[in-house]
Amino acid sequence: MNPVKPLSGLEETPSQATRRDSLSVTDNRTGKQYELPIEHGAIRAADLRQMRTSADDFGLMSYDPAYTNTAACVSRITYIDGDKGILEYRGYPIEELAEHSTFLETAYLILYGSLPTRKQLEEWTWHITHHTFIHESIKKFLDGFHYDAHPMGMLVSTVAALSTFYPDAKDIFNPQSRQKQTYRLIGKMPTLAAFAYRHSLGMPYAYPDNELSYPGNFLSMLFKTTEVKFTPNATLERALDLLFILHADHEQNCSTSAMRGVGSSHVDPYCATAAATAALYGPLHGGANEEVVRMLTEIGSVANVASFIKRVEKGEAKLMGFGHRVYKNYDPRAKIIKQAAYQVFDVLGRNPLLDIALECERIALEDDYFVKRKLYPNVDFYSGLIYQALGFPTSMFPVLFAIPRTAGWLAHWHEMLADSEQKIARPRQLFLGPAKRSYQPIEERG
Ligand code: CMC
Repeated sequence: MNPVKPLSGLEETPSQATRRDSLSVTDNRTGKQYELPIEHGAIRAADLRQMRTSADDFGLMSYDPAYTNTAACVSRITYIDGDKGILEYRGYPIEELAEHSTFLETAYLILYGSLPTRKQLEEWTWHITHHTFIHESIKKFLDGFHYDAHPMGMLVSTVAALSTFYPDAKDIFNPQSRQKQTYRLIGKMPTLAAFAYRHSLGMPYAYPDNELSYPGNFLSMLFKTTEVKFTPNATLERALDLLFILHADHEQNCSTSAMRGVGSSHVDPYCATAAATAALYGPLHGGANEEVVRMLTEIGSVANVASFIKRVEKGEAKLMGFGHRVYKNYDPRAKIIKQAAYQVFDVLGRNPLLDIALECERIALEDDYFVKRKLYPNVDFYSGLIYQALGFPTSMFPVLFAIPRTAGWLAHWHEMLADSEQKIARPRQLFLGPAKRSYQPIEERG
């Protein structure tokens, strides 16, 4: 596609006096001129519709496959500057939250817009902790899955199934009801995830322990065996909490857009969260960390990295865990995770795949193919190595992403419902299919 050339004269920077926050457009099909207001650095796509060639013309649309340059909402939750590698939740840099906060505190921040007071945090923690149990029938539902069912498939289904247990959740314009579903979803996601994991091992389910922290309880439900009380290792508990903080939100990504899009039909939040979880399952989104570990295992040794990178350059393979739609710089989450990986390895021993990963990063960051395309490690490049060291099978990796992201999905869901400009999501299309034609009886078809 040709870049749009500025019309003559427009190259000059207008003086302060003539500067207007608008876009002047000439429709060369009709010669008509239009002035479109610019607000917050955007024009309204609907303003293009006034540009018509005739009375029955639908009006001009903008074509944006994969929404690479379309803002579909106004949001006040998460800010990303992809060129500079900046990520902020409600204005707080991710590095500061990673150092000082906990996942539950960060989830509160993301959902309600400010850091909680001590009392607010205690209440919030109490409510989440007291919504961790799931209905016993969910266990029967899980038992219907084959022993090797992917835990993400089980999670998608059980989250959706929660909708049938809580019909009050349909009351989405009732703030108390929304609040209750928020407690339930954030409280129950680790339980559903842990039960899916135990099912795949054929182990009895371990019930939530209300005396443990959010990540500590999750570790207990996953790994508790015959001991009366499970005591999580403090370093590993903190590492998991840190990973939860880093994954809690990431503005309008594929799964959050699914949450908003599906939620815009006014379905209950369990079904919308199931849709978001399904979006996260894909290998280009939350499934990427699973693919990274597979790829590193396939590469097999540091000596094979250079030849693998050559294959990537030829388009024969992808370097999973590299590249991002928004970050054209080092993903700030990847930097934090890389540091955390060393702390986890100090406790559990070094993951041998780390050396292969480091070599991939070293070569890629100097390689023309990656430099030109601004491909840097993303959040998934190192997270899988920590998850693997913690004892998770690769199939659990996207599940570990879904748990904290539930806070972000819900924050966007609340924001979307409160936004008077939002309606049911319904994109347009450019129809290039056949023109009207008549039905042919089967014996006349070629
Ligand atoms: N390895 C090799 N080449 C790549 C990679 C990669 N990982 N990522 C992008 N490219 C190339 C791509 O082939 C294209 O090259 P060309 O211009 O010659 O056609 C160029 O870089 C631009 O890529 P794109 O596919 O147009 O970029 P996108 O914004 O559509 O895709 C992405 C972003 C994350 C899907 C992609 O970078 C990718 O597939 N990465 C690997 C999967 C991955 O790590 N996903 C996790 C994303 S972070 C977690 C999350 O948010 O879910």
